[in-house]
Amino acid sequence: MGIEVTVEGLTKSFGRQTVWEDVTLTLPAGEITVLLGPSGTGKTVFLKSVIGLLRPERGRVLVDGVDMVRGSDRELYRARRRFGLMFQDGALFGSLNLYDNVAFPLREHTRKTEAEIRRIVLERMEMVGLNGAEAKLPGEISGGMRKRAGLARALVLDPEIVLCDEPDSGLDPVRTSYLSQLLVDLNAQIGATMLIVTHNLDIAATVPDHIGMLFRRRLVAFGSREELLTSRQPVVRQFLGGRREGPIGMSEEKDEAQLALEEPYQEAGPEPLPRQLQPSPGLPPRRRAVLR
Ligand SMILES: Nc1ncnc2c1ncn2[C@@H]1O[C@H](COP(=O)(O)OP(=O)(O)OP(=O)(O)O)[C@@H](O)[C@H]1O
Ligand SMILES: [Mg+2]
Repeated sequence: MGIEVTVEGLTKSFGRQTVWEDVTLTLPAGEITVLLGPSGTGKTVFLKSVIGLLRPERGRVLVDGVDMVRGSDRELYRARRRFGLMFQDGALFGSLNLYDNVAFPLREHTRKTEAEIRRIVLERMEMVGLNGAEAKLPGEISGGMRKRAGLARALVLDPEIVLCDEPDSGLDPVRTSYLSQLLVDLNAQIGATMLIVTHNLDIAATVPDHIGMLFRRRLVAFGSREELLTSRQPVVRQFLGGRREGPIGMSEEKDEAQLALEEPYQEAGPEPLPRQLQPSPGLPPRRRAVLR
């Protein structure tokens, strides 16, 4: 079951470069949050800070009483076991087959027997649609399969919090739709609190309960899916509309003079709000649906 993550006044710099400052948000227990933001705004740095791989200089990240920023190495090591992390690039071990890749956290962090490990690995691989591919090496499978193997590996320790860094990158539109459904189904099945970083507008529109957006070294927006999808905030509209017009520039933010020269973007009336994906038939309802 998922647990809440509270982020308070978080600030992270590398040397003199501030990545973001004063980020405050709550990831509600068992719910799905999507984090958006142009490239380089620090989304990956944020995920790594939440799990304690990077230590921001100010603020707190509270996970069941443990501060992931100031906690001791021992506290962090224990707290990290409650997380499943899917890296941006899959991060599979190239010389291990998929079975051994997915089994790795169990062999590393638990004293389970090989028979127990086998049961868990096969169950998780089936969840992500990889049954039958256990003996394949990462180099022998498609990018989409590697993503799903990374997801299966993130799930073996029954995480209460799942962090996914661009699970859709490199996937075709159909695979991305399957992935969206998979994320919602996983949430219904394991009830974990989920934070997904993505650039994919379909995932942002149909999967999460909440959406946050990083821009100009700030968390410029955070709210329910419905609030963000109907937001009038220029940066949110530009990002969700995938447009050139607006405060986000090619390599960095546009300056005021540049913005003033721009023709205002004419929107074609309000779009209907996309429906949120529901778990596949036969699965339990999601925790958020039960609470409502
Ligand atoms: N270990 C590090 N040392 C120094 N600077 C770093 C380090 N990791 C990240 N940065 C810097 O922090 C900023 C944010 O990087 P990050 O990878 O979090 O961006 P992102 O939002 O995930 O981008 P993308 O969408 O392209 O993945 C970048 O300017 C990057 O160069
Ligand atoms: Mg990134």
